[in-house]
Amino acid sequence: MWTPFLLQLIVPVLAAAQLSLPNPPYLPPSASNGAQTSSSSGTPNPQWSNLLGNLIYFYDAQRSGTLPANNRVPWRNSSSVNDGKDVGLDLSGGYFDAGDFIKATFPLSFTLMSICWGASDYGKAYDVANQTAYLDSMLRWGLDWLIKAHPSPSTLYVLVGSTDLDNAYWGGDENIPLNRPSYSINDTKPGTDAAAGASAAFAACAALYSGRAFNGSYSNPASLQNATYAQTLQTHAQQLYTFAVNSTGGQKTYQSSVPAVGESYGSSGFGDDLTIAALFLAWATSSSSYYQDAQHYFQQYKLTGQDGVFNWDSKTPGIYVLFAQIAQIAQASSGLGGNFTTWQTECERYFDGIVNNNVASLTSDGLLYYDGDSNDATLNPALNAAMLLTRYAPMASTSDKKASYTKFAQSQLDYVLGKNSMSVPYVVGSNPNSPANPHSAMASGGNDIGNIDTSPPQEAYILYGAVVGGPDKHGKFYDIRSDWPETEVALDYNAPMLTLAAMHVLNDTSDPFFTSLQAGAYDKVRPSGQPCDDAISDGCSGPKLSKSAIIALAVILGVVGLIILGLIIWYFRIRTRK
Ligand SMILES: *[C@@H]1O[C@H](CO)[C@@H](O)[C@H](O)[C@H]1NC(C)=O
Ligand SMILES: *[C@@H]1O[C@H](CO)[C@@H](O)[C@H](O)[C@H]1NC(C)=O
Ligand SMILES: *[C@@H]1O[C@H](CO)[C@@H](O)[C@H](O)[C@H]1NC(C)=O
Ligand SMILES: *[C@@H]1O[C@H](CO)[C@@H](O)[C@H](O)[C@H]1NC(C)=O
Ligand SMILES: *[C@@H]1O[C@H](CO)[C@@H](O)[C@H](O)[C@H]1NC(C)=O
Ligand SMILES: *[C@@H]1O[C@H](CO)[C@@H](O)[C@H](O)[C@H]1NC(C)=O
Ligand SMILES: *[C@@H]1O[C@H](CO)[C@@H](O)[C@H](O)[C@H]1NC(C)=O
Ligand SMILES: *[C@@H]1O[C@H](CO)[C@@H](O)[C@H](O)[C@H]1NC(C)=O
Repeated sequence: MWTPFLLQLIVPVLAAAQLSLPNPPYLPPSASNGAQTSSSSGTPNPQWSNLLGNLIYFYDAQRSGTLPANNRVPWRNSSSVNDGKDVGLDLSGGYFDAGDFIKATFPLSFTLMSICWGASDYGKAYDVANQTAYLDSMLRWGLDWLIKAHPSPSTLYVLVGSTDLDNAYWGGDENIPLNRPSYSINDTKPGTDAAAGASAAFAACAALYSGRAFNGSYSNPASLQNATYAQTLQTHAQQLYTFAVNSTGGQKTYQSSVPAVGESYGSSGFGDDLTIAALFLAWATSSSSYYQDAQHYFQQYKLTGQDGVFNWDSKTPGIYVLFAQIAQIAQASSGLGGNFTTWQTECERYFDGIVNNNVASLTSDGLLYYDGDSNDATLNPALNAAMLLTRYAPMASTSDKKASYTKFAQSQLDYVLGKNSMSVPYVVGSNPNSPANPHSAMASGGNDIGNIDTSPPQEAYILYGAVVGGPDKHGKFYDIRSDWPETEVALDYNAPMLTLAAMHVLNDTSDPFFTSLQAGAYDKVRPSGQPCDDAISDGCSGPKLSKSAIIALAVILGVVGLIILGLIIWYFRIRTRK
C-alpha cells in the first residue's frame, strides 16, 4: 500500500532531473579579462575554459519559453509561452534561432547534432572546464523542445513564428507579437530533410548520452551518461527516420510541404540528411542495417567527390569524416565496418582541396572564403572547415597531411579569435575589441525597427559568447547592427566554435589569440564609410571619377574608336584587292 504513495513522491523529482548546475554559477567575466594573458602554463588553459563557458552561455541567452529559476542571463524574461496553442499543443521552450524570434527546427537540429558529435569526441573538455552540467542543460533545452515538436511518429513541427518580413518585430522579449503560427510536416505533407535532420540530431545525442565515445577516455563526459534519456532520444530518432524514409507523401524537401520555411531555411536536398541520419543511428545502435542504409544513400545520392561547405543545409563533408571515424573504430573493435582507407582517401581529397585553395579562396587577410556560401556569414564555412580538419587530422594518412590540416585549421581559428586585419575577435564579450553591435533584437534593447542602428545608441546588453556573421570578403568589419550578414548571431554559428574550443581546452596550453589584443586596436583600423553586402549596399558604388578624368577617358575612347575604324577600312581595302 505504501508503494503508490512513494512513487508519487519520487516521480516528479525524477522528471525534472538533469545534472545540477554549479552554485555559484559560471558567469562570463568582463571583456577586459580577455585582454590579459594567463600565467598558467598547463591545461586547461583558463582563457579557453572561459571561452567554452561563454559559448554555451550564448545558448542560455537564446532561450524561449518559461525560464527556470536558475536562469543565468539577468536581462532575459520568459517569453512566447503560448507557442503551439494554435494547434492545440505546447510548443513553448526551445531556442530562438538568431537575432529575431522564430524557432526553426532544421537549423536547430543541425546545431544539436554538431554539438553532440563534438562532445562525443572532446567531451572530456566540458568536465575539466566545469561545463558539463551546462552542456547537459543546453542540450536538454533544445532536445526536450524537439521532443515536443515531434508529438506523433509522423508529425514534426518545423517552424514556430512568422518569417514574413513585412510583419517583422524588433523589440524585447516581453512584447513578442502573439501571432506565432506553428507549421508541421506529416505523413501526407512530408519533409524528408527536416525529418531526417531531426533524426540525426536525436541519434547523435542518444549516442552521447549513452556514453559512446570516438576516442576512449579522451572523449565523452562521463557524468553526462543517462541510459533512460538516451533511450528516449533513440526512439525519436528511429521514428523520425522511418517517417523520412516511408511517408505516403513520398520523399521531398520540406519547403515543398511548408512554403513558409522557404524564406529563411529552405533546404537544397535530402540525400545528405538521409545518409547522416542512418549513419548516426548506426553509430548509436550498433546496427549494421542502418549502416547499410547509409552506404546505400551515399551511392544513390552520389555524395562522393563533393567539395562544398559543411553547414545546416549541406552535411556531406561531415559524412566523410563520420564514415572515417566509424571505420577506424570498426578496425580496432569490430562493429559496423567500412574500409578506413577508402574513407581516408575521400576525406583527404576533400581537405586537400581546402588547404591547397583549389575549391575556395582566402580573403586578403587569410579567411577561407567560398563565393556564394560565405557571402552572408563569412565565418561559418571557415569555422566548420576548421572543426572538421582538426577532428580529422589525427587520422590523416601521412604526418605531412596531419601537419597541414592542423596548421590550416589553426589559421582559421586564430583569424576568428582576432588574428585578422581588423584586430577583432568575432565572439561577443570575449575581448574589448569584440563586436559591440550584434544584430540581436533582444540584446540591442531597441524597439524602433526603422532605426535599429541608433536606437539605442549603445547595445543594451552584452550577448556574451555569441559568434557573429563575420567581416566582408575584403576582411572589413563595420560593426553595424542592421548589417545582418556581418553582425547577426545564430544557433548554428556557435556550434563549430564550441567543438573547437573543447579541443583546445583539452590540448592547448597557450591562450586563445585574443589575449594579445589590447583595447582600442579595432578603433585604429575601423573602416570608414558603409559596407557593401546583402544588407547595406551604400558602400558598393565605389570611388567616383572626377569631371576631368571623365573627359580624358572620353578622348581616349574616341581616339581608340577612330583607330579601330581606320583598321577596318584598311582591312576591307586589302581584301577587295585580292
Ligand atoms: C536521466 O534522464 C532522465 C530523463 O530526463 C531523468 O528523469 C533522470 O533523472 C536522469 N537520471 C540522472 C541520474 O540524472
Ligand atoms: C573546476 O572546479 C574545481 C572544483 O571546484 C576547481 O578546483 C577548478 O579550478 C575548476 N576549474 C575551472 C577551469 O574552472
Ligand atoms: C526583460 O524585462 C525587463 C523588465 O521589464 C526589461 O528591462 C528587459 O529589457 C527585458 N529583456 C528583454 C530582452 O527584452
Ligand atoms: C498534414 O498537414 C496538412 C497541412 O499541411 C493537412 O492538411 C493534412 O490534413 C495533414 N495530414 C495528416 C495525416 O495529418
Ligand atoms: C519502410 O517500409 C518498408 C516496407 O514496409 C519496411 O520494410 C522498411 O523497414 C521501412 N523502413 C523503415 C526505415 O522503417
Ligand atoms: C580497402 O580499400 C583499399 C582500396 O581503396 C584496398 O586496397 C584494401 O585492400 C581495402 N581493405 C580492406 C580491409 O578491404
Ligand atoms: C585520441 O586522444 C589522444 C589523447 O588521449 C590524442 O592524442 C589522439 O590524437 C586522439 N585520436 C584521435 C583519432 O582523435
Ligand atoms: C594533442 O596535442 C598533441 C601534441 O601536440 C598532438 O599530437 C595530438 O594530435 C593532439 N590531439 C588532438 C586531439 O588534437
